[in-house]
Parts: sequence; C-alpha cells; structure tokens
Amino acid sequence: MKKDIFREFDGYSQLLEEIEVSRKYWKNFTADAESVQGHIDLLHPTRMMLRVSDIIEETPTAKTLRLVSKEGSLPPFLAGQYVALSFAIGSIRTARPYSISSPPNQTGYYDITVKRVEGGLVSNYLLDQVERGAIIESSGPAGNFYYNPLFHDQTMVCIAGGSGITPFMSIIREIIECGLNREVFLFYGNQDLDDVIFHRALTDISLRFENIHYIPVVEQPPETYNGATGFITGKLIRETLGDLAGKTFYLCGPKGLYDFCIPELESLGIPSRKIRKEVSGTPTHISTYPGWPENISEKDVFTVRVNNGHTLSASAGEPLLAVLEKAGILIPSICRSGECSMCRVRVVSGRVFQPAGVRVRKSDRQFGYVHSCVSYSISDLEILV
Ligand code: FES
Repeated sequence: MKKDIFREFDGYSQLLEEIEVSRKYWKNFTADAESVQGHIDLLHPTRMMLRVSDIIEETPTAKTLRLVSKEGSLPPFLAGQYVALSFAIGSIRTARPYSISSPPNQTGYYDITVKRVEGGLVSNYLLDQVERGAIIESSGPAGNFYYNPLFHDQTMVCIAGGSGITPFMSIIREIIECGLNREVFLFYGNQDLDDVIFHRALTDISLRFENIHYIPVVEQPPETYNGATGFITGKLIRETLGDLAGKTFYLCGPKGLYDFCIPELESLGIPSRKIRKEVSGTPTHISTYPGWPENISEKDVFTVRVNNGHTLSASAGEPLLAVLEKAGILIPSICRSGECSMCRVRVVSGRVFQPAGVRVRKSDRQFGYVHSCVSYSISDLEILV
C-alpha cells in the first residue's frame, strides 16, 4: 500500500524501468544502500583501532600520545570533544575518555595528553608501558563540550586545571590555525610551574595572536615567578576581563576546580546558562554527596550477583562499572561521568546510589537501568549486564 504512493511521483515508473535494465547488465543500484552505511561508519565509527605514532614529553608528569588510524582515516571531530580509549591491563578491561588536544583541521592524527595520576591505573599504564607502535582501541569522537556559534558568545572564557587544558588546546589551535573570529581568555591553574602543560606554546601563542589571552595561575610558585598565584578567583576573573557581558564560560579540570570556580562565577552574577562544564569523571568520595545514606560507609562491602554467573564483592565507595571491569567483565563506556548512558546495566534487586544530576532516562529508571559508571552499591545486588 505504501509503495503505491511512490507511483504518483513524476518519473517513478521510468526509474523502476532503469533499475530493471541495469540489473540485466549486472549493475545493482540497491547496493548503494550499503555504501550509505559505509559512509556513516566512516564518519561515526563505534570502534576504531589507533596506532601510537609518536610520544612527546610535555612536563615531568605529562606526555602527549599521537594517534593515527590503523585502518586508513580518522573521523572528523569538533574541538573540545574526546575519544574513549579501551585497555586490557592485567586481568582488568577498562576504558577512559581523553580529550583531543590537536585541532580538528589536523586530520592525520589525534593528540591526547596524559598527566600522571598518583595510583592511577590507566595514566600510569599509558605513561610507563605504552610505546611507539602500540595499537589502542578507541571509540569515535564524542562529547558536548564544544563551541556552538548559534548559542555561545564570540568571547570564550576558558578555565582549566591540570590535564583539563587539553580541549582548550584543541580549541585555541583551531582558532589560530584557521583564523577564526573568536577571542579566548584562558585561565589555567596548576599547583607547580613545572606542571603547566603547554606553557611555552601558550605563552608564544598569546604573544603572537592578540585574540588569545593566557593567564597561568600557580598555587605554589617559585620566588622568581611574577604571574598570578593562588586560585582562579572571581576577583582575578573580573580584574582581567573587566566587562563580563557577552562572554561564555567553559570549565574543564578536576572536581575541585568546579567546586571552587563555579561559586566564584556565580558570585560575579554569571548566569548558569553561560557556564559550560566538561564531564569530570567519577566522584572521588561519593559518601560526601548529598543524599548518601548516613548508615553506610564507603568501606562497606556488598555482594553483586551478575547474570553471567559471576558473584563479586563491591565496596560501597567504588563505582559498579569499576567492580565489573576488575572482574574482567567488559561494559561499553565512553564518558564515565553519567552522561552518555553507554554503561547501562539493569538492577534486578537491591539498591544503588547515584548522585544527583545523572541523566537517566525516565524509561530506564522505570525498568531499573542505571549508569554503572556513577552507581554505587548500597545493598547486595542482582544485576543484568
Ligand atoms: S560511560 Fe557514559 S554514562 Fe557511564
């Protein structure tokens, strides 16, 4: 019945005849349907294999890994987006999102810049064990932390801490390399001057391009240092910017940066719609979050029964995703911050704690699905993966 509607379109019957004739001569135009899927897969791959082509020392605690495609080409991305890299480290299978620090106009490679986290499983693995030539599995580019000309002001005020500089490096490089008409004020906080990633490159850029302003802020500066010190305060932001109107604020860094800087921005009267924040990973001390049950300690241990036959022990303070990965159970994940919903598992019985703000769809909630990257066992559980 539906197909009959097409017959009313001009040229439809001639088109059918042409297809018939073509088929006689072994040309099957319906094959085009597959090529469309091929194009979609090239632009939005779910998985891709990358080769480490170079490793660049940035600071004593950070390196840039240059990643090229093993299969031929890399999909495009927007400056500010990340890829989630997957690893098998010992018996653990896990993944981590890394913002791309190279600009999107550089289509031959993605740079990711990794800073050592004390005791960090993946950062230490990447910095100490991964060598040139290593193959790493990756997601396609993802994330919503990018400039949108329809909604965001032409002046970007970027506030970074530690390795949170990486998306801003991509954004700034794109602006200067493509000659984009945008102004950037970059406040970049670090504990020590030695930790400041891209310090020389950013200083050079700010001297050469009058639309890029670089304000490093060092907590424990050497005596000879004459830049801004301490934290990125509202006072420093106001004194640097003067007029706060017509500017959008972007934050990326550790949770402490958000906890400190967002109230500072609010105290300046910046409305929340003007403040954009990159995903910040899993909470470090979940029991400090509002709503955490008072009678449960992060050290309490619960049993998690998984439908694949595993029975696991889970500390209340550990995300369910990490518990599953430690047992070698691979759960797809991209953001690891409760945003993308890739890591959903279904809780059949028992209770988990999820911090406020996790975007679980209404239908998921109704059927017991949770985002395992930000779900914490607060009773014995039975789950489906
Ligand atoms: S990995 Fe994105 S919501 Fe869990």
